Amino acid sequence: MATGDNQIRIGLLSSSNIVRKVSRAINLAPNATITAIASISISIEEARSFAKSNGFSPTAKIHCSYESLLEDPEVDAVYFPIPASLHVEWAVRAAGKGKHVLIDKPVGLNVSEFDQIVEACEANGIQFMDGTQWMHNPRTAKIQEFLTDPVRFGQLKTVHSCFSFAANENFLKNDIRVKPGLDGLGALGDAGWYTIQSTLLANNFKLPKTVTALPGPVLNDAGIVLSCGALLEWEKEITATIYCSFLANLTMEITAIGTKGTLRVHDFVIPFQETEASFSTSSKDCFSEHKVVTEFIQEACMVIEFARLVGEIKNRGAKPDGFWVSISRKTQLLVDAVKESIDNNLEPVFLSGR
Ligand SMILES: *[C@@H]1O[C@H](CO)[C@@H](O)[C@H](O)[C@H]1NC(C)=O
Ligand SMILES: *[C@@H]1O[C@H](CO)[C@@H](O)[C@H](O)[C@H]1NC(C)=O
Ligand SMILES: *[C@@H]1O[C@H](CO)[C@@H](O)[C@H](O)[C@H]1NC(C)=O
Repeated sequence: MATGDNQIRIGLLSSSNIVRKVSRAINLAPNATITAIASISISIEEARSFAKSNGFSPTAKIHCSYESLLEDPEVDAVYFPIPASLHVEWAVRAAGKGKHVLIDKPVGLNVSEFDQIVEACEANGIQFMDGTQWMHNPRTAKIQEFLTDPVRFGQLKTVHSCFSFAANENFLKNDIRVKPGLDGLGALGDAGWYTIQSTLLANNFKLPKTVTALPGPVLNDAGIVLSCGALLEWEKEITATIYCSFLANLTMEITAIGTKGTLRVHDFVIPFQETEASFSTSSKDCFSEHKVVTEFIQEACMVIEFARLVGEIKNRGAKPDGFWVSISRKTQLLVDAVKESIDNNLEPVFLSGR
């Protein structure tokens, strides 16, 4: 693929499994291209063959260290598929080298880490985005249209969002998401991140006032959350519940109930089909199934949006866009609050002023 002015050149930090999915997305996105990968756990030969089998351009560079990738002048932006515990260090360094950052969730292990990353981005004019793919599915914009429609939906009263899957024994022993030194927020930083972001979406990205963990969180021996729920409360009897778990059957549901309508989504995180996604609504006398056909798979939509924002900065001297940062920070704040409530015997956590 040509690497003209309109191409945003992306470097991948590591060759973990998630990279396959995102590499495919970058290859599909018209204005982004992979120009480098840093692989520290495999040999150069293995990295070359990984690059080849994932459709990287033959000119893509293989770096043996993260530092060396960050020095590469042919990298505009870096994708971070590395454990959350490494995000702060490497995102701050990337920003210092003028690289834009696309960081998988959970962005930080807490909001203070999150803020360190964002401060480094702001200081260096860097675009930040988190890697929450479903937010970029064109279906999500349609869902948002319904939820903000005063006639069809009215005012939100309550929203329930669940993301669970039954992880196998190997995952529960070895995955980075159950290790304190790696993605230390467990199911909450993973499945919970999505459910929390969906409840924010349902109430126009307004932060709730109070967060209270529900009874019965399950933690592993190292204190990592494997399953939990929480109650979120805005003012005036407007509530949300979230449930996230590695220990229950696969479910990816949003039910949002307004004064005039109801929204239901059964596959909000990963649509059952790649090129078409549905949701249903009911309003005054009318039940509708909506299908949204997508030209690009949702992870490519994410890359397209990221490349667009980076392109605005690189080619037009624009300032970094703050929308994704703000949603992401609220999500991290709420993840922290659920954790804090779990750690404090399910006491409510008050969010005013945070
Ligand atoms: C945030 O997490 C990091 C890493 O676990 C820890 O060192 C730090 O103390 C935490 N900060 C706050 C304010 O909890
Ligand atoms: C688990 O969830 C899947 C997908 O939603 C469903 O097809 C399946 O029937 C469920 N398994 C059981 C045992 O209920
Ligand atoms: C992508 O690049 C093409 C030219 O290669 C340009 O016309 C188009 O505006 C770019 N799209 C975005 C979203 O930046």
